[in-house]
Amino acid sequence: MFFEALRQQKILPIITVNEIAQTRSTVSMLKSNGLNIIEITLRTPQSLEALEEFCKDSDLVIGAGSISNVDQLEQVVSIGAKFGVSPGIFEPLVIRASQLGLPYIPGVATPSEIMTAINLGVNQVKFFPSETLGGIAALKSLSAPFPTVSFIPTGGINAENYEEYLKHKFVLAVGGTWLT
Ligand code: 3PG
Repeated sequence: MFFEALRQQKILPIITVNEIAQTRSTVSMLKSNGLNIIEITLRTPQSLEALEEFCKDSDLVIGAGSISNVDQLEQVVSIGAKFGVSPGIFEPLVIRASQLGLPYIPGVATPSEIMTAINLGVNQVKFFPSETLGGIAALKSLSAPFPTVSFIPTGGINAENYEEYLKHKFVLAVGGTWLT
């Protein structure tokens, strides 16, 4: 089960591909440290090619991040992505991911967006951009009315602050680029 594996991994490393050679060494470093669930953002022209290459490695669980429309979602599924992540929440994306059986993590920043997620049947969300929104203090307040929701805070998380997030039950894992 994807979300259980992510909970155990605790950290979701996020890679934006600039140089593919550099990304290959980052991925093998992550893999040798037991971090096999990895998000690759769709922010650069090289990202799809990289996604396709790393999806072929059966030891890895590669997902696509920064998904902002349904075409992108369908494209990443067709090249083998095992999960999807978006910075925000958009109903057609949640519905399409569910139809495709793709574990999918929409982003939220407000109580209304968390309510949108819950009402679409989503119980795991990305809290983004976490540190800008007030970090763990903000998330503590925001999560209180929603005990069934687990959060993956992302944005500004680093080696100094990630453990503070992981102390809380409502945090499923933390995401970030600090390891990559
Ligand atoms: C993301 O794609 O979720 C963010 O760019 C990650 O944020 P970070 O670079 O601050 O870790």
